[in-house]
Amino acid sequence: MGVDSLGYIALTTTKMDEWRTLLERVFGMEPRMRDGAIDYRIDGYHHRITLTPDTTDSVEVIGWELGSSEALATLVKILQDRGVAVTMEGADLRARRKVKELCSFTCPMIGNRQELYYGPLISNTPFAPSRGISGYKTGTLGLGHVVYWVKDLAASVKFYQDVMGFAISDYIAWDNNDAVFMHCNRRHHTLALMQDGPNTPAGALMHLMVEANSYDDVGYGYDLVRDMGIPVMIEPGKHSNDHMQSFYLQTPSGFWLEYGYGGIEIGPDWQVRNYDAPMLWGHRFVGS
Ligand SMILES: [Fe+2]
Repeated sequence: MGVDSLGYIALTTTKMDEWRTLLERVFGMEPRMRDGAIDYRIDGYHHRITLTPDTTDSVEVIGWELGSSEALATLVKILQDRGVAVTMEGADLRARRKVKELCSFTCPMIGNRQELYYGPLISNTPFAPSRGISGYKTGTLGLGHVVYWVKDLAASVKFYQDVMGFAISDYIAWDNNDAVFMHCNRRHHTLALMQDGPNTPAGALMHLMVEANSYDDVGYGYDLVRDMGIPVMIEPGKHSNDHMQSFYLQTPSGFWLEYGYGGIEIGPDWQVRNYDAPMLWGHRFVGS
């Protein structure tokens, strides 16, 4: 029951050139032009990230993948039984997303647009990165993870457990932060939710994480970011819970992008834990 993985993210932006520089020169993603928009490929899927030029910067949608039409129909029914309005999307949007079946809804907890789909288009040619990287750890683990601030943390966690099919991985509480990490496959967390605050508004995407196949990809990427003057927000370090070695940069749209390597996976003997700090080492805020 529930979603299988984070499939894609689509963004609108006023800063196409800056985004292109970031995704192509730093992250080595493969651009595919489409009517002014750009789809970015990072693995066998047709694309995982879409940039569309617009007059505002926004996270247009995140897309959750399910394994079959039946699984999709079951989740739609569960959402509707909870009073969530679900729209079955037509051929135009299916063609843009490159999926067999597609529906959308507004998350009653985060407040953002989300899509559910099955049957993503897979390309028969290898991913051709824009720079020399070993590639991205995706497959059944999906695109990566997203972290959102929410107004009602307890109710949001319950919604993602009871409706969307996530399970709790662990918790971290530190300083004035309160975070719950949740999985829907073997990736340690595909979604994390944090209590909102005065400068961290509910519904905003805090960051997207993509995971490299080698730490050298991350290291070379870090040097490129520094050389190109892209703002680093958190220096390289290792997380306490998923052991991801990563750094964080600020994207042209304002939210952060975490470039990571080496995250542990959820296994059959998984035990939920509660940590008092997000890092084992490093991960210092820039300027601290
Ligand atoms: Fe993260």
